[in-house]
Amino acid sequence: MSAEAVSNALLAPAFAQVQEEVDSAFDAFLTVPTDSRKRLIDAMRYAVIGGGKRVRPLLLVSVAKLHGVDRSAAINAACAVEAIHAYSLIHDDLPCMDDDELRHGKPTVHKAFDEATAVLAGDSLHALAFDILSRSATSPDPFVRSELISTLAKASGHEGMAAGQVMDMAADDEHYDLHAVTRLQQLKTGALLAASVEMGAILGKVPPEGRAHLRAYARDIGLAFQIADDLLDVEGDEAKAGKALRKDEEQGKATFVTLMGVDKARAQARMLVEQAAGHLASYGKDAQLLNELARFIVERDR
Ligand code: IPE
Ligand code: IPE
Ligand code: MG
Ligand code: MG
Ligand code: MG
Repeated sequence: MSAEAVSNALLAPAFAQVQEEVDSAFDAFLTVPTDSRKRLIDAMRYAVIGGGKRVRPLLLVSVAKLHGVDRSAAINAACAVEAIHAYSLIHDDLPCMDDDELRHGKPTVHKAFDEATAVLAGDSLHALAFDILSRSATSPDPFVRSELISTLAKASGHEGMAAGQVMDMAADDEHYDLHAVTRLQQLKTGALLAASVEMGAILGKVPPEGRAHLRAYARDIGLAFQIADDLLDVEGDEAKAGKALRKDEEQGKATFVTLMGVDKARAQARMLVEQAAGHLASYGKDAQLLNELARFIVERDR
């Protein structure tokens, strides 16, 4: 995503900076060997360098900054979340899941490489995430590292993203109501966004009882984020989104948009953004970037 795609004077440079930092960190984590692992690492790099918006990294580093965390430590943790996110997209695009051919405006990993390599690149990005979190460069404090690892693990697996994905795969024949779709979205998308916020607070050594406002903010933007993704699926421009759209209805997926209609879904997303900003009121002006980010999440066109 180009920096020009975000017009906001505060957000645009923040996105540009984190995109560059995450790209160069992954470049360093993933040096290309000359042996037979080259194809695997090329596929990992293809998925994780120069692609996404980096919303999760920006969330993490912004919360970390509120609490005075060293920037390179925050970027490491942000790369861990983004590695999980990138792996989830590689697998989400596979023929056995959403069967997509385009991601970030280029062929999906299984199209550019092959299915087996795509599965293994996803597996390896998943492993890389926890490898990064276990390093002392991420935090010198083993208790912090351990809490980062367990937070990301819970958000990724059967209590988080993967649980949401399995509910999503069943959404065409389960006839979910609004309550079930909310649960699905909170797991599928909300869990990793919430983990990004939580991990920024963990690095900042904010005790769990001090994280209530941040958690409430994360819950609201998590839901708003997926409503925006579902709205984009209906109304977005494929060239801008860089992925195939109009798939949810075709695949019979229950989403906020299919259940509430476009107008109510958008109103709900905007209400959630206002509510999210309200939770950060005690941070005053320091929370401006997080508030702008919440707004971007809903008004984005990609
Ligand atoms: C897309 O996430 C998949 C969902 C969880 C809805 P993003 O919109 O953050 O994807 P990228 O990383 O910017 O491509
Ligand atoms: C993907 O959701 C969510 C995860 C990968 C966890 P979608 O299937 O709606 O994402 P897109 O629309 O393909 O980006
Ligand atoms: Mg999907
Ligand atoms: Mg998909
Ligand atoms: Mg989608």
